[in-house]
Amino acid sequence: PLVSMKEMLEKGKENGYAVGQFNINNLEYIQAILKAAEEEKSPVILGVSEGAGKYMGGFNVVVAMVKSLMESYGTTVPVAIHLDHGSSFEKAAEAIHAGFTSVMIDASHSPIDENIATTKKVVELAHIHGVSVEAEVGTVGGEEDGVIGGINYADPNECKRLVTEAGVDCLAPALGSVHGPYQGEPNLGFKEMEEILNLVNVPLVLHGGTGIPTKDIQKAVSLGTAKINVNTENQIAQTKAIRETLAAKPDVYDPRKYLGPGTEAIIETVKGKMREFGSSQQA
Ligand code: G3H
Ligand code: ZN
Repeated sequence: PLVSMKEMLEKGKENGYAVGQFNINNLEYIQAILKAAEEEKSPVILGVSEGAGKYMGGFNVVVAMVKSLMESYGTTVPVAIHLDHGSSFEKAAEAIHAGFTSVMIDASHSPIDENIATTKKVVELAHIHGVSVEAEVGTVGGEEDGVIGGINYADPNECKRLVTEAGVDCLAPALGSVHGPYQGEPNLGFKEMEEILNLVNVPLVLHGGTGIPTKDIQKAVSLGTAKINVNTENQIAQTKAIRETLAAKPDVYDPRKYLGPGTEAIIETVKGKMREFGSSQQA
């Protein structure tokens, strides 16, 4: 069923596992991620960035594709459709009214008082609709949708203020992770993560899941991280499979023949993450 993230993340935090948010870019991503989740019996979050939503034809199209595929696949695991890095109250409202079951409002680039005010406004609307809300403090490094930024570690006291004053369901404290591949090993702020865990009582979210070593994943989960976002790793796996297919079969022109192997590669990548995050067999 289509649900908000609230219950799945609270269960994960309680039982020591994280639910993966896998970003969708087109129909094939939705197919692959829903199949992987069902095969692994795992709850799952479909992440939709504003750019990807636009690419697919709008938030309404995304919701229609997801609902329709879940129906024809007979999906039994909990699935959330989540706005990733929502940039404004208006965008979050648009997603909520289109039928998203969860939204992230990322006002982390504004001063903390403004971040709290914007987030609170989103929470008020979202909760009327039974939609869960994620917010961010600090800055995730790297590139997302063409925007490049530096790393900025979250301040634990600002995290506490945002959670209590805005009433969010989960919190993404930026603690050294980056979007896209890492240059060398990531340097995650586990000390701050522990401090934040003790100050707020909501599940934590880890962005930039691509390329984080398993030991860091496990440490983060042990410190209250119940949601891990992965996008780039699926894109790399899909594109590699498509490139190999096109190189091996230069005469192929039917898109199903080269997109199919890409979709299989996404399925395998997502299943691996679900096992690594511990969400397999939890639905
Ligand atoms: O919000 C999306 C994620 O944080 C994705 O990060 O592309 O590095 O896996 P990633
Ligand atoms: Zn992110």
